Amino acid sequence: TKKMILDLDTGVDDALALAYAIADPNIDLIGVVASYGNNLLEQTAKNSLQLLELLGQDVPVFKGLSHSSTTNHFTVMQVSKEIHGSNGIGNISLPEPSHQVQPKDGVDFIIEAAHQYNKDLIIVPTGPLTNLAAALHRDPQISQLIGNVTLMGGALTVEGNVSDVAEANINQDAEAANEVFTSPLPITMVGLDVTLRTLLTKKETQQWRNLGTPAGTAYADLTDFYIDAYYRLEIDKHGCAIHDPLAVGVAIDPSFVTILALPMKVITNKHNYARTIGDKARLNARHPNVKVAINVNQERFVPVFMNHLINLLANH
Ligand code: BDR
Ligand code: CA
Repeated sequence: TKKMILDLDTGVDDALALAYAIADPNIDLIGVVASYGNNLLEQTAKNSLQLLELLGQDVPVFKGLSHSSTTNHFTVMQVSKEIHGSNGIGNISLPEPSHQVQPKDGVDFIIEAAHQYNKDLIIVPTGPLTNLAAALHRDPQISQLIGNVTLMGGALTVEGNVSDVAEANINQDAEAANEVFTSPLPITMVGLDVTLRTLLTKKETQQWRNLGTPAGTAYADLTDFYIDAYYRLEIDKHGCAIHDPLAVGVAIDPSFVTILALPMKVITNKHNYARTIGDKARLNARHPNVKVAINVNQERFVPVFMNHLINLLANH
């Protein structure tokens, strides 16, 4: 098993990634760090606490940073509310969390875990890369310690979802993303290239609903909200992209995707802001630190994901 930290901006697909990481016996989820993005930091931390309780898990939740270092506050985009609901989790209501967030800072938690678990640690950021960039600033040594960073973000071979070139997570903090990509960290980029091909439909959510459990119903409800939003906003008429779960899947089984090893950077100029692209200056790097997922075996991934979720949701 691998030790994993999820760095989530808990919206709907983050909620699915959380359930998957809990359900897969090959993953030892040692903590969740909260990020801003699909909603405010306070709300995403609360969502993670509530979902963990719904799923009967005692995993610590830490707060990361509430906004990028290039701004002094963060406001939730209207489109995020339309896609993920105003509470981030499809407007479902869950009991107030009985656990609290940990007193320790989320960035420090990442640093301590890197030292403790060394190459056994995988970090899966499914929101902005602000926390990870801050951790690299505070302790550059961790870039040699962490086993892998498998992140959901970016787009190399397709357009972005915020602009022609920008994907949402990278767009929240392109400066942080660029620091992470150009660091020595071993990175696997699971971007729109592959996540937009990995869809879930109401046929699948109906299977969760049929379980008749509180968790099955809650997960069917929050995912149906997201599927309806995809339909309404004409992002996809058949289903919704399970962006963040695919990053968890690839973290534990890279054979779900084919990769292109490439030294990557993120453009931080206004023009093309947040574009993820090969770094011309380092093109001949012998061992490029980024593996970009450019194709996915979604016919294999979706059933694996479904099996894990059904097993978990059936029991809670
Ligand atoms: C990413 O942006 C967020 O809205 C999703 O949760 C996902 O992590 C997709 O671009
Ligand atoms: Ca996310």
